[in-house]
Amino acid sequence: MHKISDYQGYFLEYLSKKTITKEPKNLYAPISYILNLGGKRLRPTLVLMAADIFDGSYKEALDAALAVEVFHNFSLIHDDIMDDAPLRRGKETVHEKWDINTGILSGDAMLINAYQLFENYNGDTFKELAQLFTKTAIEVCEGQQYDIDFETRDDVTIAEYIKMIEYKTAVLVGAALKMGAIVAGATEQCRTSIYDFGRLLGLAFQLQDDYLDAFGNPETFGKQVGGDIIENKKTFLYLKALEFASKDEQKQLIGLFSLNPDDPSEKISTVKSLFESTGAKDVTRTEIEKYTQMAFAALDNLTISEDKKQLLRLFGETLMNRSV
Ligand code: IPE
Ligand code: IPE
Ligand code: MG
Ligand code: MG
Ligand code: MG
Repeated sequence: MHKISDYQGYFLEYLSKKTITKEPKNLYAPISYILNLGGKRLRPTLVLMAADIFDGSYKEALDAALAVEVFHNFSLIHDDIMDDAPLRRGKETVHEKWDINTGILSGDAMLINAYQLFENYNGDTFKELAQLFTKTAIEVCEGQQYDIDFETRDDVTIAEYIKMIEYKTAVLVGAALKMGAIVAGATEQCRTSIYDFGRLLGLAFQLQDDYLDAFGNPETFGKQVGGDIIENKKTFLYLKALEFASKDEQKQLIGLFSLNPDDPSEKISTVKSLFESTGAKDVTRTEIEKYTQMAFAALDNLTISEDKKQLLRLFGETLMNRSV
């Protein structure tokens, strides 16, 4: 096994070898722009780590890792269009730098390219990777549609929210780990358990993403702070604030989340104070911790050495304490 940062390094090296800008430039330039904007590279790192954890070789998992990162970045281009987001990783989003049509088509090409990368695998491995990828990608679309549908609903439940984030975010984290396990030829039981670990960690990860969207430091966060509030996203923070609020505060919140003011700064600051005063902010932190612990518990079902489990726990803890 190597260190987490080593796996990230192996991936970055592979990525730089594989990114080429071809003609037409307006199709490929946005692709290399987004892929080279940085980002935490969590998902490809997990693919590589899982391959080694199950006694395969991370080198054989590089194409699967690239496929997952290309897919993730495709989903970000389209997500930023859907969320009307100006900033990504501290830079202009693709549709702001180019335009919406460019974002749609470059994103489409990336989705296809992600599939294409699985062609580098043979036989059963190819089939299993492609099947997992297809199932996951469809779920991500379903999650993204729920996310948008919830913007204009005022009766979203916590259970619906969890299902939404499971689909839009968590399943891809689970799939990344399972792909590493598939490449390594791990047993079905190992594949299922590592997927579950990733899925639970992915839930904690999206809860944390929502938390940072409101309470992250604008200097370092890399996205527009308050973006979810502007878009009336029904996040865990919002749903809990509504649950804990007095009748008057509930009216106020629902009112604010039915508006799209030209200058959203007052809406953002009022909503953030309500997230704090109702206790929703603290409860969200507890929930992040809860899902992280549930992910760690899923490791009990795995028959891998303790130091490998420790590496996975370290990964989870780092995620929980992140500021980006
Ligand atoms: C952002 O994912 C989209 C979500 C699922 C929350 P990341 O936070 O992993 O984005 P990058 O790749 O590190 O920028
Ligand atoms: C994004 O969720 C999930 C996918 C891209 C599939 P968000 O909309 O919360 O992600 P960010 O905050 O823009 O990165
Ligand atoms: Mg978004
Ligand atoms: Mg979104
Ligand atoms: Mg977000």
